[in-house]
Amino acid sequence: MWRPPERIKWKPEPGEWPTREEAAASQLFSPVDIGTISLEQRTWIPAMVPWRATGDGKVTPEVLDWYGRFARGRPGAIVVEATGIRDIPSGPLMRIGTDEFIPGLKDLVDTVRTESGGHTKLFIQCIDFLNIRRRPDPQRYLREYIRITDRHRTAIGDGTWDDDQIREYLAGLELSELDTILNERELEGLHMGYRERVTDMHLPHIVDLPNVLPGLFADAAGRAKEAGFDGVELHYAHAYTISSLLSRLNTREDGYGGSLGNRLRLPLEVFAKVRETVGTDYPVGCRYLSEDIVDGGNMLEDTTQIGVAFAKAGMDFLSLSRGGRFEDAQQPSVGAAAYPYTGPSGYECMPQYVSDDQGPFGRNIEPVAAIRSAVRDAGYETPVVMTGGIHGFQQAEGVLTDGNGDIVGFARQALADPDWFLKVRLGKGGENIVCEYTNYCEALDQKHVPVTCKLWDRANMDELDILKTTDGKRRLSAPVWEPGLDIDKALDGD
Ligand SMILES: Cc1cc2nc3c(=O)[nH]c(=O)nc-3n(C[C@H](O)[C@H](O)[C@H](O)COP(=O)(O)O)c2cc1C
Ligand code: SF4
Repeated sequence: MWRPPERIKWKPEPGEWPTREEAAASQLFSPVDIGTISLEQRTWIPAMVPWRATGDGKVTPEVLDWYGRFARGRPGAIVVEATGIRDIPSGPLMRIGTDEFIPGLKDLVDTVRTESGGHTKLFIQCIDFLNIRRRPDPQRYLREYIRITDRHRTAIGDGTWDDDQIREYLAGLELSELDTILNERELEGLHMGYRERVTDMHLPHIVDLPNVLPGLFADAAGRAKEAGFDGVELHYAHAYTISSLLSRLNTREDGYGGSLGNRLRLPLEVFAKVRETVGTDYPVGCRYLSEDIVDGGNMLEDTTQIGVAFAKAGMDFLSLSRGGRFEDAQQPSVGAAAYPYTGPSGYECMPQYVSDDQGPFGRNIEPVAAIRSAVRDAGYETPVVMTGGIHGFQQAEGVLTDGNGDIVGFARQALADPDWFLKVRLGKGGENIVCEYTNYCEALDQKHVPVTCKLWDRANMDELDILKTTDGKRRLSAPVWEPGLDIDKALDGD
């Protein structure tokens, strides 16, 4: 992963923890409405892909264990990981592309209800993404994959050769010599792996996105509602289809790219179709980027207007992430796919403890505050979820009391200690295991292997009935925390 050149090492500083009474009186543990439902508290676990589904995207006991463990900490809401709206092979990533997935998703909803005692609301993040291939072996790429055209013939200067002869010739060149023969996309295919873009208008299925995406998202949202989720989060962030449509880098000329109005068109059409399908009384919001953090990408100037447009359209919440784009991703090794969290934009998305003067904590606060204030100035009360490096009570409370957000997201901190929310409410914040922002978990995510936290994945390995990785070396969820008191009695009246 890319890290700021300053290489300043930061330590998380959670600060003072509140007493039970102080927690009860705080904004963080006060309710908030999201459309027609209410969260008991303003805490939120944003989507985190843990790579625990079956190879065909179904819910497994490991998925239930993962979300059940988060639910025991009773946060206000949990958002289930990015879940694919198309029924296409995508490894152990969850899917919601046909009705076949509904029974497993119902089990997931039931698990969270039971484990949280009905205190936590459950959303699911619905995602669409375009094709991406692994970085090829250069010889195979040149001998088998590259499509030979007249451009190559002209560049080589021998019009008599057939495709195989040209491939053989290209395979014999030094990589530097290929720079003058291959075009930008071919070089990208060679060095990074082929990746589709929303602007690839030579591809019929890309031209067709406006015709298919609204229906795909709407059907997925309908299934989420049927499975019993409390709401849907449309994934409009990071390196994926809708985020790329929203980005300034979207230069489509079919009315869905270029000006901000055009870039907003398909995301709004998707939302309108989802709304039509699930009704006005079902919470639907989206996650999008406070800034793209890549050259030529969206800046606050765009994202404040995007927030207002989404609020105006009737979204029930706006959850803001940041960066995480393919454009600045590092070169993957041969056989691996590019990962959109390896460049500077990836750093902004999941900032690590090795940082710059600003440090890794709360880097998203200022831009989110600007978006929230633009939404409020336009007359909308849409709740805004602020996420990024939050691990302390005072830090989270400050986000709310300073008016920088309405709900606080805790991703890695919740992974490090799923009981954070409960411990703080019970006045036992001192028992929290605080995230060190090492990004060990994120490195596992990059490899598409089960995500765990280094602070607990080898602890109490002889505990009965725990689920482990297939090599038996890591446990898959955090050890149980014993509060030493009756939680419901202690929180009675909060
Ligand atoms: C292992 C892992 C998986 C993630 N998967 C998703 C995802 O599926 N969808 C999403 O919007 N963000 C995803 N994120 C980003 C987080 O939701 C969050 O925005 C980011 O980690 C910054 O918040 P934090 O500092 O509280 O961890 C993931 C993060 C991690 C660490
Ligand atoms: S592995 Fe654990 S401590 Fe490290 S960043 Fe992830 S959640 Fe935090």
